[in-house]
Amino acid sequence: MPVYCITGTNRGLGLEFVRQLAQSGDNTILATTRSLESDLGDLHAVASASTHILECDTGDLKSIHAFAKEARKVLGPDTRIDFLLNSAGVNLASWQSSLTLGPDDLAAQISVNVLGPAKTVEFLLEAGLLSESVRILNMSSGLGSLQRSLAAPRKCAGYSISKAALNMLTVHQSGDLRAKLPHVVVIALDPGWVKTRMGGDGAVLEPHESISGILKVLGGLKDEDNGKFLHHSGEEIPW
Ligand SMILES: NC(=O)c1ccc[n+]([C@@H]2O[C@H](COP(=O)([O-])OP(=O)(O)OC[C@H]3O[C@@H](n4cnc5c(N)ncnc54)[C@H](OP(=O)(O)O)[C@@H]3O)[C@@H](O)[C@H]2O)c1
Repeated sequence: MPVYCITGTNRGLGLEFVRQLAQSGDNTILATTRSLESDLGDLHAVASASTHILECDTGDLKSIHAFAKEARKVLGPDTRIDFLLNSAGVNLASWQSSLTLGPDDLAAQISVNVLGPAKTVEFLLEAGLLSESVRILNMSSGLGSLQRSLAAPRKCAGYSISKAALNMLTVHQSGDLRAKLPHVVVIALDPGWVKTRMGGDGAVLEPHESISGILKVLGGLKDEDNGKFLHHSGEEIPW
């Protein structure tokens, strides 16, 4: 009975993770959302009997802390998370360049896209909720690759900087967690350009295509994949 914990599941890629995972009654799912007060109709529509919908605002440390406590209550004393999918993310003020960065916009992106996944891991670890071989996916982006950005027109500066920072967080977590969880595998992953509110209608992939690829990648991860930056196809991406 694998246990999945996913952030940002009311729409977009997080919702698609829940939709696909909920098709097997064997999966226990902690589907988290920024606010339980928002419209969760789509999430309720795909949730299974073993899906628990919990609040976790990944831009708010108190909320992440409260979520870890709630997760412990829901899972009980002996059950741990096997897959933690840090999917929640924001792309704010995408028109800004490195020459026009808005301090508040950059701070908000660092808060949700970097500090959120960092503290989610930290608080779940503290609560003893991560299994010894937990797979942790930090949802990155091709825009987080320094090498790719050098070869392409630069865009979404603040977002791109925050995803590059998320990639470095992944590298640090992959080392720091190994001392505590001997078979942990932490990866950064680019889902491709996907038709969601963030990706827009011009994107090339449907959510089900990206997520089915990602679930295959997750299922095939080995100890030696710890600290890698992967594409939804499983190929490695240059940092
Ligand atoms: N779509 C793409 O082409 C693409 C490409 C590369 C990377 N990504 C990454 O993939 C991930 C998912 O993106 P998406 O395409 O699904 O975007 P999306 O359609 O805009 O959905 C973003 C999700 O993140 C949630 N979220 C935002 N801020 C949050 C917070 N503070 N606390 C909790 N949840 C929060 C949103 O919840 P609310 O509804 O409450 O805001 C929503 O559920 C992101 O990390 C994104 O950077 C996407």
